[in-house]
Amino acid sequence: MAKRKPARLEQTVEIALTVNGIKVTRRIDARQHLIDFLREELGLTGSHVGCEHGVCGACTLRVDGKIVRGCLTLAAQADGRSVETIEGLSDAGTIAALQEAFHKRNALQCGYCTPGMLIAAHDLVTRHPRATRDEIREHLSGNYCRCTGYHAIVDAIESVLKAKSSNPV
Ligand code: FES
Ligand code: FES
Repeated sequence: MAKRKPARLEQTVEIALTVNGIKVTRRIDARQHLIDFLREELGLTGSHVGCEHGVCGACTLRVDGKIVRGCLTLAAQADGRSVETIEGLSDAGTIAALQEAFHKRNALQCGYCTPGMLIAAHDLVTRHPRATRDEIREHLSGNYCRCTGYHAIVDAIESVLKAKSSNPV
């Protein structure tokens, strides 16, 4: 009986996406993760890699406006989508109020978790403008800070929410 050849898996795929407002087309390894694509192919190293299995939140990004784990998302899944990284959100001024509040309250030490924290915090501020302190903590529960600067981080986010509610324009 003739031996059957194993099905050959596609090794590379071509993707076309928008990253921080710029159209990008690349042929990539089909199994490359989005965070590695952004860091290694595009040089966008602002988003970090920690646990690499969806626990720490260091790799938090936005895809079509929703926050995702860059280490659990394949770059191929971002085909045709709009990806925003900490660089794009920062340059656009989208997270300026949070950045200022983090700076003012010294809500970081090594800064490794900060890009992911800021993106998660922005998601909260946008979607739950009346979030309580407990809800802030809950929302950030998927973002680990190894330096344990949580108190100042929560203070900073709370201050942005308060400023927003007293001046909702
Ligand atoms: S590196 Fe993605 S969640 Fe930790
Ligand atoms: S500031 Fe160091 S990990 Fe959060």
